[in-house]
Amino acid sequence: MFKLSDRMQAVYDHLIPGEPVWDFCCDHGYLGLSAYRSGRFPEVHFVDQVPHIISTLKERFEQKHQKYEQNQRAFFWAQSGESLTHKVSGTVVIIGVGTHTITDILRGIHEKNSVFIKRYIISTHNYEEKLDAFFDEFPPFKTSFQFTKFCNVPENGRIRKLLIFDKI
Ligand SMILES: C[S@@+](CC[C@H](N)C(=O)[O-])C[C@H]1O[C@@H](n2cnc3c(N)ncnc32)[C@H](O)[C@@H]1O
Repeated sequence: MFKLSDRMQAVYDHLIPGEPVWDFCCDHGYLGLSAYRSGRFPEVHFVDQVPHIISTLKERFEQKHQKYEQNQRAFFWAQSGESLTHKVSGTVVIIGVGTHTITDILRGIHEKNSVFIKRYIISTHNYEEKLDAFFDEFPPFKTSFQFTKFCNVPENGRIRKLLIFDKI
């Protein structure tokens, strides 16, 4: 397998074993592929709005990774996170994108059924204060999720803040 970057490893270490993993804005898919290959998560969902990213990832998955399937399954969603209508559950990861994208996706998820989400792992590229303000105001986060911890993780010479929220 591939070695994860320190940032990705920090995210991976906080996925909840035995629960589905939803990797929103997955791009290269390293996080989800590692989760899939570990066999510790029953479902791994790859979501990216760029269709060719998902088709290339799915092709690579079928060639190199699917053979490691035991009881776990992988799902590929070529659409924006905010437009997803499928029930989302387990650990939801939204990292490597900006605050506007994160808040759009969270609004989209919570307009639908989200009661099965146990943990969010979130990291923004920009406007950290705006994201903090969003969490203070966004009703589902005020009532159903608690801020559990944050980690500072290095990425290309920068420090990124990883935020973890758990279902109350
Ligand atoms: C910089 S990459 C981040 C990849 C990975 N999450 C990481 O942190 O390394 C951003 C990816 O997010 C995807 N993306 C941007 N907005 C999105 C949205 N609203 N819904 C789903 N995917 C989105 C882009 O297509 C791109 O592949």
